[in-house]
Amino acid sequence: MITCPSCGKENHDGFAFCGYCRAPLAEQPPLPALEERKIVSVLFCDLVGFTAASERQDPEDVRARIRPYHARLRQEIERYGGTVEKFVGDAVMAAFGAPVAHEDDVERAVRAGLGILEAIAELNEADPDLELQVRVGINTGEAVVALGARPEQGEGLVIGDVVNTAARIQSAAPVNGVAVGEQTYRTTSHVFEYEPLAPVSVKGKAEPLSLWQAKAVRDRFGSDSTREYKTPFVGRELEKPLLIGSFERAAQQRSVQLVTVVGEPGVGKSRMVAELFAYIDAKPELIRWRQGRCLPYGEGITFWALGEIVKAEAGILESDSAEVAAAKLDAAVSPGESERQWLLQRLAPLVGVEAASPAERQELFTAWRRYLEGLAAAGPRVLVFEDLHWADEALLAFLEYLAEWSQGVPLLVLCTARPELYERRAGWGAGQRNAHTINLSPLSDQETAELVSSLVTATVLTPQLERAILEQAGGNPLYAEEFVRLLADRGLGSDQIVLPDTVQALIAARLDTLSPDRKSLLQDAAVLGKVFWAGALAEIGGRDAGELELALHELARKELVRSARTSSMEGESEYSFWHALVRDVAYGQIPRAERARRHRSAAIWLERKAGERVEDLAEVLAHHYLQALELA
Ligand SMILES: Nc1ncnc2c1ncn2[C@@H]1O[C@H](COP(=O)(O)OP(=O)(O)OP(=O)(O)O)[C@@H](O)[C@H]1O
Ligand SMILES: [Mg+2]
Repeated sequence: MITCPSCGKENHDGFAFCGYCRAPLAEQPPLPALEERKIVSVLFCDLVGFTAASERQDPEDVRARIRPYHARLRQEIERYGGTVEKFVGDAVMAAFGAPVAHEDDVERAVRAGLGILEAIAELNEADPDLELQVRVGINTGEAVVALGARPEQGEGLVIGDVVNTAARIQSAAPVNGVAVGEQTYRTTSHVFEYEPLAPVSVKGKAEPLSLWQAKAVRDRFGSDSTREYKTPFVGRELEKPLLIGSFERAAQQRSVQLVTVVGEPGVGKSRMVAELFAYIDAKPELIRWRQGRCLPYGEGITFWALGEIVKAEAGILESDSAEVAAAKLDAAVSPGESERQWLLQRLAPLVGVEAASPAERQELFTAWRRYLEGLAAAGPRVLVFEDLHWADEALLAFLEYLAEWSQGVPLLVLCTARPELYERRAGWGAGQRNAHTINLSPLSDQETAELVSSLVTATVLTPQLERAILEQAGGNPLYAEEFVRLLADRGLGSDQIVLPDTVQALIAARLDTLSPDRKSLLQDAAVLGKVFWAGALAEIGGRDAGELELALHELARKELVRSARTSSMEGESEYSFWHALVRDVAYGQIPRAERARRHRSAAIWLERKAGERVEDLAEVLAHHYLQALELA
């Protein structure tokens, strides 16, 4: 058994990633930083009127009543990647975004809240005597997170005002309702339907809190590539023709092509797919397009993306019962199909119907391949698998098998993935003659500027503001869009740009896929600034030079840092952050006292390195010493 350094749960030997929180499990050095500042969402759930009722009951009866309730609560919370911090009698507190952050923690917290309401309804239905009623409150904000804490042993994980406020919101929530605070509402208002609640006043706060009630999920899982993009497409003059070329090749040569579009979050992978969709849509002939998405969480999702494709093909809806789904599948598989029953049985698990007899994996793969080949035989097909970095090993294996074994049908298998896919599967698509990768690098400044000016329609940005956005976005179109959106929300009058929550969450989640040691290295680098040197990192963290080089190489492969060809410091290899924002987020995570210490070490190293040139570096040195003093 290996204990996960992030969430403390036990995993089987030989696992590379934690099965609960997905943190890397490789042999970890002891945690370098024990605390981190993070944006977390805290969920409180309390039973209504339970305390009064339990006073009249025997303690054993109370315990028997509450046990299934606790178990279900935990199940709902963990299903969405939350951590149960504690049960206090009939109340539970859970954290999303700690110890490990995900880009959509706020959304997960609200999904869990709604999931709890459903679970309570189910418990009541199963045993009408229970009559359980709950209130759920959720709040999002910055907190100090104790990384090494073991909540299951009663150790506190999250500390901060965000916790107290969440408790307050919970007590103000309607019975059998989920109430959320402002930041939670703002981040997720496009995902859930909300209704405003009356504001409540809180001790120690001048302004009353604005509250909203989450009513329902708008859309189960958004679909990126068929989403309508209103902004013009810029750049990608080399990559777009490559993608179109792969499709044409599949269509004209009646062959299978496996294309993977790779790049960091927000760089434009889904948009590229959407561009191909637009190209195909404009063609006179009918070309069928289906897509599925790999999900970062949930149960029974190994082949979810493939399931989505088969469900769409058969017209099966999420709301359909198993019988209806089976009937629709039956109708969708053509009657002439020899081995029809065999095929139907193998397809059934993909659409959430239990098969009469379970089959071996290889047999399933064969069946699925034949089904997809059958679809493509009727005319060119595009199958899109979005977000392959979240795909289960088994789905990856199936896609490679499909690309290798299918022949004579016009089929483009188009995948999108972030670079971490290659961490898990270095050889993805390698060695296959019909597999290609399209790497998306950041947009040029000119392209970003073009995008930005198309986004600000009404007013013209001041040159300073435009320059600031270009610098911060670093060629990432999503970042650029988010900056402009926030600016528009706050009024273009301001001349300063602020880091949008969405971008913060995205980057924080990427940093949390790193091992604690790598992350601490990145935080050391952040203290030095956008540009840093390996020698300085060795000094601040007391690291071995060879090990350091390996670590930096890994961070470069993950597109977090890059090495400079020439160095501004003699004899020192120089690196920089891929994005200034990655630096800012990493820096923001370091607790204050730690920051002071690291600034001091940085100054000592620079001073020694500068030698006679110390005058040149006077300002930089002063900055580090000043920070060390101010933060201490
Ligand atoms: N070449 C481009 N021209 C104009 N806008 C773009 C371009 N590429 C991306 N965008 C915009 O940037 C935003 C993010 O792009 P997209 O959703 O495709 O990112 P992604 O790489 O799929 O990210 P993720 O890994 O999070 O799925 C979208 O709103 C998209 O319209
Ligand atoms: Mg995408």
